[in-house]
Amino acid sequence: MIRLAEPYISDEIKEKILEVIDSKQYVDGRYTREFEERFAGYIGVKHAVAVSSGTSALFLILRALGIGRGDKVAVPSFTFIATVSQAVELGAEPVFIDVDPETMTLDPADLEKKLDSSVKAVIPVHLFGHPADLDPIIEVAEKHGAHLIEDAAQAHGARYRGRRVGGIGHVGYFSLYPSKNMGVYGEGGVITTNDDELAERIRSLKNHGIRNGEFVMFGYNMKFNEIGAVVALEQLRLLDSWNERRRENASIYTEAFGDLELETPIEKEWAYHVYNLYTLKTSARDGIREALSKRGVATGIYYDRPVHTLNIVRERFGYTKLPITEELAKRVISLPVHPMLTRDDLERVIDGVREALQTPP
Ligand SMILES: Cc1ncc(COP(=O)(O)O)c(C=O)c1O
Repeated sequence: MIRLAEPYISDEIKEKILEVIDSKQYVDGRYTREFEERFAGYIGVKHAVAVSSGTSALFLILRALGIGRGDKVAVPSFTFIATVSQAVELGAEPVFIDVDPETMTLDPADLEKKLDSSVKAVIPVHLFGHPADLDPIIEVAEKHGAHLIEDAAQAHGARYRGRRVGGIGHVGYFSLYPSKNMGVYGEGGVITTNDDELAERIRSLKNHGIRNGEFVMFGYNMKFNEIGAVVALEQLRLLDSWNERRRENASIYTEAFGDLELETPIEKEWAYHVYNLYTLKTSARDGIREALSKRGVATGIYYDRPVHTLNIVRERFGYTKLPITEELAKRVISLPVHPMLTRDDLERVIDGVREALQTPP
């Protein structure tokens, strides 16, 4: 079976995990500190704070920024539900923004139309590994005094105009779920920012509100763990070479699909795409799914139920039409593009897609 994501497992990582077990220090210890320092250096920010998941990362960011009841948060609907659910759980209302049809990321023009002073934060998502067009988004957000939170859950190492995402807005966050460009053997997340006070508040909130040994606020338990930290440290070391492999795999697909009637993913001239997923746009996705499934290749549809169309959202906040998002929801299909794929695997995927598109229905 060719899966959409494949965890990287090595003897070095296994040895490190045994070391952690023997150290008897399992939570937020020296390896977590080392990972935070290295990750901050990699992204190019002053602070990285490791936490229990990407979702808790966003929760802590919003909570630390004081976003809650009566506030609005501008978000794409074409994303994983976690981008939206945390603001809702804190009492805020989502303002859904459509996406650019090419990059599938937040459309700055639609944002400009919908933003007003009640919007306290804008959360662009660097979807599938392609950065959102941050310059115009930041300009609009700043004009209205809204915080810019980068959702980089799917984009470790992606660059926008030469700068790594997660280090460009006020604050950013990454997921360390195993299917991401780098992940752990469980759950994890990491927050990145240059804001000293925000980083301190988040550190405190993730650990029961403790600061300098005192309980200074009511907090949560959203700490990271040492086994995750040694895995993440090793994966961070390999991240750039893996991203290059993902890009090579993507260019092999794009070339092989050049004569077919479908849209291959694009990379804007200002972007360094890290292909967490290789997402096609096509009117023949059922046929592609079927042909690939027959060949033992997994595919994914991200996202056929955009967040604004979910019943739980419509019942509470009503419905806003998002034409591009709704069209994409009917046409996208994601293929495996991860760095563990062999040349034979790639050929198997290519054959399946070609067969599906060349055979008349
Ligand atoms: C765009 C996006 N945001 C947020 C998250 C949440 O991250 P986690 O699964 O680590 O909680 C994910 C994870 O799938 C995601 O893809």
